[in-house]
Amino acid sequence: METRDYILLTINGQMHKIKGEHAFLPLSSLLRYELGLTGTKVVCAEGDCGACTVLFRRHQFSSERFQSLNSCISTSFLMDMNHIITVEGLASQNHLSEIQDSMIKNFGGQCGFCTPGFVMSLTNLYENHKQATEQKVKNYLTGNLCRCTGYQPIINAALAVDTTKIKPLARQYDYSRAEHDFDSEKQRPIKITLSEKEFFAPTTLEMAAEYKSKNPEARIFSGATDIGVQINKGKNPGNKLMSLHLIPSLYEIRQEGDFTVIGARVSLHALQKYLERKQSQFADFLNIFASPQIKNTATLVGNLANGSPIADTTPFLLTVDAMVDMQGSLGKRSLLLTDFIKGYKSFDLKDDEFITSIRFKLPNPAKIKIGLFKVSQRRDLDISSVNSCFIFQTHNKKIEKAKIAYGGVGPKALRLFDVEKAIEGQELNTALVDKIKQMISTRITPITDLRGSADFRSQQCLDLFDRFVQENFTYE
Ligand SMILES: Cc1cc2nc3c(=O)[nH]c(=O)nc-3n(C[C@H](O)[C@H](O)[C@H](O)COP(=O)(O)OP(=O)(O)OC[C@H]3O[C@@H](n4cnc5c(N)ncnc54)[C@H](O)[C@@H]3O)c2cc1C
Ligand code: FES
Ligand code: FES
Repeated sequence: METRDYILLTINGQMHKIKGEHAFLPLSSLLRYELGLTGTKVVCAEGDCGACTVLFRRHQFSSERFQSLNSCISTSFLMDMNHIITVEGLASQNHLSEIQDSMIKNFGGQCGFCTPGFVMSLTNLYENHKQATEQKVKNYLTGNLCRCTGYQPIINAALAVDTTKIKPLARQYDYSRAEHDFDSEKQRPIKITLSEKEFFAPTTLEMAAEYKSKNPEARIFSGATDIGVQINKGKNPGNKLMSLHLIPSLYEIRQEGDFTVIGARVSLHALQKYLERKQSQFADFLNIFASPQIKNTATLVGNLANGSPIADTTPFLLTVDAMVDMQGSLGKRSLLLTDFIKGYKSFDLKDDEFITSIRFKLPNPAKIKIGLFKVSQRRDLDISSVNSCFIFQTHNKKIEKAKIAYGGVGPKALRLFDVEKAIEGQELNTALVDKIKQMISTRITPITDLRGSADFRSQQCLDLFDRFVQENFTYE
């Protein structure tokens, strides 16, 4: 099939064809240095401060509202088939947007580095909600850091916005021509080469597997919230770069029998929305995962495949006996997550394989008690020192089923199968809780690093278990 050597995207309503070296730039550099859109700032270049926030809407989901992302860690080629809006694109017919107006009237415009990012995050808020409480405003600002004056004038500005006057950004520009162009180009794979570097975006799983078998070193970019930070820190992702964004099935969340199947391109934001009514504890837990900008692009599969022993979703996935679905040149296969994770950043994933989805049975909230915890130095936007998930099913004070998993306690996240086996069928009482804690402490081997000492981590693991049983059970 004929490939294209460019990506297509709109920026503030205008179509752009991006080729060659420009496609490999961080989106923030493309905007600032190639297109002169310098309202988008770069401060940390690590996805933390939000100064570089812009809004995006994928062509595949034209019904969806715009969402925020960190342009400093997003590579431009990942923006193919997206509509982007920068701070310059918010005003219409020479009138500032309602949010910009309110920021001025309420003295929310503090410094030139952060203000555009705050405006974009508040625009994200009102794109997706008709009204907001103070807490909601704070949630939407977790990915925007101010180091000077504080947040109150910005929060006041957000709460003073006249929401009746806000119209969805999709109506600000006429996207019909661009949608038509996207439609006619989305079935063409992309191949962009730049001396020995190559970016490839296949349109089918088979095409992706064939590329991976010929280029085993090819690095897959999903949301790039891990890879983008690594690149900005000077780590080379290699010469063969692949994105699966043109494969529609990977955006699906579907039910297959008892299993909920989460495609490799499903963002954590989309997952959180899907789970709100079905598994509210996991959805709530995602509130303390990163920031809206990160969750709008980061994927569940990327969280698992980065291989970090403190990835926040892994303990939950371990306790629900998640399966990892893979595609390779010889076909598909699936593995239990506990078998898939072999060690520190090491998986049972062959050179020609990649992950297509993660599947699990959602625990029935009526039958079980679940405890999902993360310990970090800051509540929001911080990496965990340890995390955990406990799922207990009890009847008449007897533990019928127990599932216990921890992250940050060794080279890989752990499911404590033998502890679970030892306590099933036993009555939950103080003596048993002490015994369980004793068993846990002999199974975990945390290390000392900048996020906490080994002793601190061990103690936290026991405290989290205590918290789980005290919050969910009465026992003597
Ligand atoms: C500011 C900030 C805050 C963060 N906060 C948290 C947090 O609170 N908790 C947490 O756990 N993490 C956090 N992270 C880390 C990161 O956001 C998550 O790990 C995220 O889920 C990664 O998903 P992604 O789609 O962006 O992955 P990417 O960066 O695209 O990829 C990550 C890795 O997975 C591989 N990969 C991606 N897709 C596939 C596939 N289909 N098959 C095989 N391999 C694949 C990539 O090659 C890469 O090695 C944070 C990151 C930042 C920058
Ligand atoms: S510059 Fe700080 S998040 Fe992008
Ligand atoms: S608004 Fe920029 S540091 Fe406070």
